[in-house]
Amino acid sequence: REFRINIAIDGPAGAGKSTVARKVAAQLSYVYVDTGAMYRAVTWDMLKHGIEAEDETAVLERLKALDIELVPGEDGQRVWLSGQDVTDDIRSLAVNRTVSRYAQIEGLRAKLSASQRQMALRKGVVMDGRDIGTTVLPDAEVKIFMTATVQERARRRYREMPESEAITLEQLEQEISRRDELDRNREVSPLLCADDATVLDTTDMTIDEVADAIVRQADQKIVQ
Ligand code: CDP
Ligand code: CDP
Repeated sequence: REFRINIAIDGPAGAGKSTVARKVAAQLSYVYVDTGAMYRAVTWDMLKHGIEAEDETAVLERLKALDIELVPGEDGQRVWLSGQDVTDDIRSLAVNRTVSRYAQIEGLRAKLSASQRQMALRKGVVMDGRDIGTTVLPDAEVKIFMTATVQERARRRYREMPESEAITLEQLEQEISRRDELDRNREVSPLLCADDATVLDTTDMTIDEVADAIVRQADQKIVQ
């Protein structure tokens, strides 16, 4: 496996992207890059400073002061924002509920996409998000569009919720649907399947089955 490629994985919330991407990266000794964490870190900071997504000028001004760093670690990727480890903070319900509104801002996307491209320059990257195969890495050697029914995706997310989060399965399903809708319908690089991506419906697949399917595709490209 001398020759290295890039793998782009896109799809809606709860499809299994990050879990599978992490596994695939480990199997190939590649670096996993979770681009959603960057949008989450920005959102967390904006909420903390009371800057609303509607105020694009203020968001872009604040963004200049932010330094986001993704650090690959033993138990996955850690996210640092201007010197602070925010890995756990960015998974809050407050961030879940607002991140897609900040992610619509063109100037914000341009900045994050540019830094994502930098991270993939040397190849050997498994990157997941919404616009990786279409916009960030259109030349990725393997492109996967991962889906599952919204009911299954909500069940998966519900299982990993801490008891302290007061939310029902039905509410969670509604929130996921609303976020998917915003992500699919935004003007700048919306969530959509690239023409040359392989669609994987993971509704009835285990994590290992999905990871194996992707590693097989990667192996074919690597030996070519
Ligand atoms: O893990 P989950 O699927 O819930 O979401 P995520 O990958 O952490 O992404 C959170 C949000 O960031 C998404 O709902 C999108 O609004 C935004 N995002 C994006 O616009 N483009 C990306 N490449 C990655 C995430
Ligand atoms: O990154 P994304 O939002 O697409 O999904 P994820 O965070 O990787 O997966 C959400 C949850 O579904 C995790 O708890 C996974 O363990 C679980 N999962 C599953 O049960 N079966 C799969 N085939 C994929 C993920």
